[in-house]
Amino acid sequence: MAGYRIAPSILSADFARLGDEVRAVIAAGADWIHFDVMDHHYVPNLTIGPMVAAALKPHCVKPDGTPVPLDVHLMVRPVDALAAAFADAGADLISFHPDASTHVDRTLQLIRSKGCRAGLVFNPATPLDVLEWTIDKVDLVLVMSVNPGFGGQSFIDSALRKIERARRITDQSGRDIRLEVDGGIKADNIRRVADAGADTFVAGSAIFGQRDYRAVIDAMREALAV
Ligand code: DX5
Ligand code: ZN
Repeated sequence: MAGYRIAPSILSADFARLGDEVRAVIAAGADWIHFDVMDHHYVPNLTIGPMVAAALKPHCVKPDGTPVPLDVHLMVRPVDALAAAFADAGADLISFHPDASTHVDRTLQLIRSKGCRAGLVFNPATPLDVLEWTIDKVDLVLVMSVNPGFGGQSFIDSALRKIERARRITDQSGRDIRLEVDGGIKADNIRRVADAGADTFVAGSAIFGQRDYRAVIDAMREALAV
C-alpha cells in the first residue's frame, strides 16, 4: 500500500478566500484537496459547484509545481450530469453515494470514461454490499464517519468496523483502491482510523478551525508515524 494521504476539506475553509485557503493548506502539507458538493436534496446543505472547482483547479499545485489531486465528494441526487461537469472542471477523483444513483455501474463507467478515478461513498447506516458487484470499477472507497451534510460533527465509532470490512474487500480485490474516511477526523483519533485500515483521511474543521494548518497536519502525520 502506498503512503497515507491527508485531504483537507475546504468545507470549513473561509469561502470568501478559497484560492488563498487552498494554497495555504497545500503549503502546510495537504496531499489532496477534498471538495464537498451538497445539493440541498440528497443532504440538507448547499455548497459549491463545478465553476468553483474550475476556478480552484489552478491553485491545486505544490510550490514545487507538483499537482495536488482535486478530490470531489458528490452529495447530490441525481449524480451523472454533475459528475460529468466536475470531470470537465478538472476533478481528479469523483466519488458519489451509490444510493443517490439509479445505475451505479453506469455512473462509475461515466466517471472513469472521463479520465477520473471513481469512488463510492458509504453513509454510517449504508452497507458495503454494492462493492461485491462493482469493485472492478472502483478506485476509491470512502467511508463516512458522520452523516453527510455538515462539518464539525463527531466521529461515529461504528465506522471503524466498516473500515476494517472495507479493507478486507479492497485487499481481496487485488486492485489499487484507496480507502478514505470522512468526518470527525482529528490528530487524536487518526491513528485508530489508520489501524482499522484507512489510508486517506479527510479533515475539515480540525485543520481549518486552527490558525496554524501546518501544526495540525504535522500532528496528524506524527500520530500516523507511531
Ligand atoms: C461532511 C463532509 C466532510 C466534512 C468533514 O458531509 O463530507 O468532508 O467537511 O468535516 P469535519 O472534518 O469537520 O468532520
Ligand atoms: Zn466529504
